[in-house]
Amino acid sequence: MIHFFYLACLLTFTDSVFSKRFGAPIKTNDRPIIGVLAQDVFNATPQRNAYIAASYVKFLESAGARVIPVMINRTEDEYKRLFNSINGVLIPGGGASLQSSGYSKTATIFYRLALEANSKGDYFPVWGTCLGFEMLTLLTSGESLLSQTNTRGVALPLNFTDDVRDGRLFREFPEELLKSLATERLTVNSHKWSITTESFNKSEKLKSFYRVLSTNSDGQNEFVSTMEAYDFPIYATQWHPEKNAFEWRRRYIPHSGRAIETGFYTAHFFISEGITLNLCLYNTHFFISEARKSLHSFPSVTEERKALIYNYKPEYTATLNAFEQLYYFD
Ligand SMILES: *[C@@H]1O[C@H](CO)[C@@H](O)[C@H](O)[C@H]1NC(C)=O
Ligand SMILES: *[C@@H]1O[C@H](CO)[C@@H](O)[C@H](O)[C@H]1NC(C)=O
Ligand SMILES: *[C@@H]1O[C@H](CO)[C@@H](O)[C@H](O)[C@H]1NC(C)=O
Repeated sequence: MIHFFYLACLLTFTDSVFSKRFGAPIKTNDRPIIGVLAQDVFNATPQRNAYIAASYVKFLESAGARVIPVMINRTEDEYKRLFNSINGVLIPGGGASLQSSGYSKTATIFYRLALEANSKGDYFPVWGTCLGFEMLTLLTSGESLLSQTNTRGVALPLNFTDDVRDGRLFREFPEELLKSLATERLTVNSHKWSITTESFNKSEKLKSFYRVLSTNSDGQNEFVSTMEAYDFPIYATQWHPEKNAFEWRRRYIPHSGRAIETGFYTAHFFISEGITLNLCLYNTHFFISEARKSLHSFPSVTEERKALIYNYKPEYTATLNAFEQLYYFD
């Protein structure tokens, strides 16, 4: 095994030397487009059946991606076409049902498509935040393993696990930021359900699929707060990297320099992570790289333009709910 990976590293190295010397491009996509799942509005009204919090859009844009909204309750064919046009998907936080909402149906389809594509070598990264994290535990394990925790509005430092060293997500984070993440309250928790470390450990399916990168405690129960799939570009945080720079309605959201960096480096990882040489020194999984490695594209520029979130106007909703701005869809 070891030999194989050294060989792989050697080849990667040779490959990049070759491409520098002879200008042979390693194919990456510098125009990534990420789909953000919309979700059901609790009290839907005409033209307001689904929404996306604008902070998720800004979060991805800040790291160099464009965004398209993935509407709920569309046909499987439509989702397949979309899947083949975009370079990754973000399953956001919120309050939709994990069992019976438009959100859960869409997430289920995209998860399946992502597993199929990645298994065939068609790179497609998936990110889950908060409810999206919880959705992924359900999709991977096939059962609801969540427990209630007292974590509805608190910023916490991360308790990194020993496995973080073998992981990908935090590898390119600056050393000083990692120190701050481990000691300062930089990650926003705004959830009442969590997967406890105990439940996670009892699930063979979760344990064999995800590497746990960090945990947290509500004082009573320890829960998983960051995880990444071993063999797929699937990442999830129970905390909210998008809130630090873009949401202001809750006093517990940190806005310090380190807090903003936390959001940025998280988005940067998802959008930009590329194959780097030092990877080989740290990691046995060398096929790494997120949205820029997905080569999906829209069939035409016209279709791309029609799909982009720029076609929709966010509304200022700070007096109505916990978000500064929402996109509403019918
Ligand atoms: C979307 O589908 C869900 C689940 O089937 C349903 O509850 C919801 O009413 C649908 N929403 C719209 C806007 O059609
Ligand atoms: C879960 O498993 C990890 C890794 O094996 C271990 O470090 C941790 O203590 C376990 N946690 C619980 C609550 O069983
Ligand atoms: C980190 O883990 C320790 C030991 O389980 C726990 O007491 C502490 O509350 C955790 N810290 C956070 C911020 O969750």
